[in-house]
Amino acid sequence: MTKSVFPKDFYWGASIASHQVEGGTVNQWSEWELAHASELAKSAKQRLQHVVADWDSVKAQAENPSNYVSANGVNHYARYQEDFDIAKKLNLNAFRFSIEWSRIEPTEGQWDEDAVEHYRQYIRELRNRGMEPFLNIWHWTMPTWFVAKGEFKKGSNLKYWRRFVQKIADEYASELKYIITLNEPNVYASFGYLTGEWPPQEKNVINFGRVYFNLARAHRQAYKILRKNSPMLQIGVAPALANIQSKRPNNVIDMVATWWMRYFWNWWWLNRVKRKIDFVGFNYYFSDYYKIGKVDNPDAPLSDLGWYMEPEGLHPLLTRVWAHYKKPIYITENGVADGEDQYRQWWLEETTVAMERALSEGVDLRGYFHWSLLDNFEWKYGWWPKFGLVEVDREHGMKRTPRPSAIWFAKKIKSLQRGDLPTKDI
Ligand code: BGC
Repeated sequence: MTKSVFPKDFYWGASIASHQVEGGTVNQWSEWELAHASELAKSAKQRLQHVVADWDSVKAQAENPSNYVSANGVNHYARYQEDFDIAKKLNLNAFRFSIEWSRIEPTEGQWDEDAVEHYRQYIRELRNRGMEPFLNIWHWTMPTWFVAKGEFKKGSNLKYWRRFVQKIADEYASELKYIITLNEPNVYASFGYLTGEWPPQEKNVINFGRVYFNLARAHRQAYKILRKNSPMLQIGVAPALANIQSKRPNNVIDMVATWWMRYFWNWWWLNRVKRKIDFVGFNYYFSDYYKIGKVDNPDAPLSDLGWYMEPEGLHPLLTRVWAHYKKPIYITENGVADGEDQYRQWWLEETTVAMERALSEGVDLRGYFHWSLLDNFEWKYGWWPKFGLVEVDREHGMKRTPRPSAIWFAKKIKSLQRGDLPTKDI
């Protein structure tokens, strides 16, 4: 191989989600934040001290209640055009974003036409800059009225979801080539209903099962609506998948745990929707090594969040996803919490090499979306973890500054588009 195997039309993008950047969202998460901020600040040390990579460097922020409130976000709702200009300068040719249901339908059955128009303009501004919009319908946040009815716990509530999807189809489908229905149903159902760390903080296996199962139904129903509306639209999903391995590959217990976790975490949900997807999108952050049923990862290198970093673990995962589903693949999220920007370039390099390897083996990989374009609100961790290619200084007018790794990545994208090998200058 003397030339890059990345196709000319490969999508090099970044991903964001409404609640994490827009500012001013009112949904079940924003309500939960206000109710729990002080308690989260008080318990920060006990929860995080032995988890994060460097507690001293995050202590001040993690113990401050305002860290846990999304508030005005990074004001992306107002500043999206400026953010798209930055993305364009970084040589990105695609962008994944989510629609905030609570803005479009703040009251049951009543559409806010200003919000509808906002996202129409948003899509157009991406197109104007030559960036392909990948619209994500649901990234966990929901209007409070839908949550009050029991959200995805009840199959009968899917009628509200279908009405919302129909609205999205009617308003935007004609302007789009790609749509993603749901972000990480496995993470949402697990954290909200199994571990109880996220709203609605239930620890209830039955409700976990209901939500997880109904989210598969929600996808299939959305697919039907969208497909009917526009036969050419490419419709997919974005679960979180992990590169799951045995700590001791010759140990039966570890191998059984690995087999089970691959099935439970990676395949179960995808298998329920595989006949109703045009592509498999997935988010990759983790390699997890299982020992006696528990994750037992190496101690280094760790991201700011204390997550073990193995970017090259993307390769075995890509090959497995391809073997399972034989559909075009998009990596819809991938990135690292790295406030000092000491690992991001390395992460991007290794990720690029992993993708190159998969492509050269025939995996039909069509795009990569980095998480994230901007520093963003990291759910229950709040503001201190920094995932942005672009740093946002929320203390000083939300000033945007591309990190050195982003500048490096922009050059790398150009060189790969020219056909250079990813490893050329490494
Ligand atoms: C989610 C994002 C989140 C990212 C980093 C993904 O699981 O989809 O919303 O910011 O992980 O934690």
